[in-house]
Amino acid sequence: MAKRFSTLGRYPTTRLRRNRREDWSRRLVAETRLSVDDLIWPVFVQEGTNARTPVGSMPGVDRLSVDLFVEAVKQARDLGIPAVAIFPETDPSAKTPDAREAYNPDNLVCRAIRAVKKEVSDIGIVCDVALDPFNSDGHDGIVRDGYVQNDESVEALIKQAIVQTEAGADIQAPSDMMDGRIGAIRKALDAKGYVHAQIMSYAAKYASAFYNPFRDAIGSSGALKGDKKTYQMDYANSDEALREVGFDIEEGADMVMVKPGLPYLDIVRRVKDTFGVPTYAYQVSGEYAMLKGAAERGWLDWNKVLVETLTGFKRAGCDGILTYGAVDAARLLRGK
Ligand code: PBG
Repeated sequence: MAKRFSTLGRYPTTRLRRNRREDWSRRLVAETRLSVDDLIWPVFVQEGTNARTPVGSMPGVDRLSVDLFVEAVKQARDLGIPAVAIFPETDPSAKTPDAREAYNPDNLVCRAIRAVKKEVSDIGIVCDVALDPFNSDGHDGIVRDGYVQNDESVEALIKQAIVQTEAGADIQAPSDMMDGRIGAIRKALDAKGYVHAQIMSYAAKYASAFYNPFRDAIGSSGALKGDKKTYQMDYANSDEALREVGFDIEEGADMVMVKPGLPYLDIVRRVKDTFGVPTYAYQVSGEYAMLKGAAERGWLDWNKVLVETLTGFKRAGCDGILTYGAVDAARLLRGK
């Protein structure tokens, strides 16, 4: 790349500011365009009716009861947002060390999926596959002997993916980082005849301090003992992300994700350049809190930093972005 550009043009015959002088010209030369079609909206659900609870560490984000969730999904669909991702706040009394609530076909997630599928069409429903909302240890897998067990967790994740698919979810999104789970889930879905069920793998998911507000939102922060470093990736690593992504593609992932977002755009670029598969990033709760918190204090312009960051994801190679700002961004992009 560098070579191709270095010999092209010299000041003053070439003036790069020429193309930037007018708005129409800037639009004409723009290399990246953010569109509503690039957005996935993560939504938190809770028990109750007509109930919403603000998430303290995520100003502007509420947990919604299933009925309000359905309304929110309609609103997203009407704005043209292609998909929403559901995250449940499980009643603490339903949390156990084996996280069996994860594959209870009547759990909050499955009820939310059924309710939304009954009333709203033309929008995809993405579901996390991970045990942390259901696990009394707050971990994504099953803890035994002080260690998150891999193969035993995968068995539970398979059952979770099946009940969520049976409830009507379109995309299973394993966010647990257990080894081999994509292949195992794909095999189990196919065996049940769910050959069209899509898998979006959280393929390169890092052990990050940017997830804290999310853990408040789903109520797992109190439960979580220790950290997730024995399964989520070390943020010092980049080559390893390519191995993770490569494995997941071989195991049957339809789409891959890098997470968190902004501090990991180098990973997005490498993944996209290396594999060329549908690639997503998650602008996570802590990134949202950072921008929204500063905007609330008047230090940043929320609308502007939202569109700038989302465009940055696209420039880095993302085909789409999971963002809590999806509805705001969609409204801005639609001029509503
Ligand atoms: C859990 C999960 C997490 C997020 C999505 N799925 C948190 C974690 O791994 O602890 C984070 C999302 C966010 O911070 O917005 N499997």
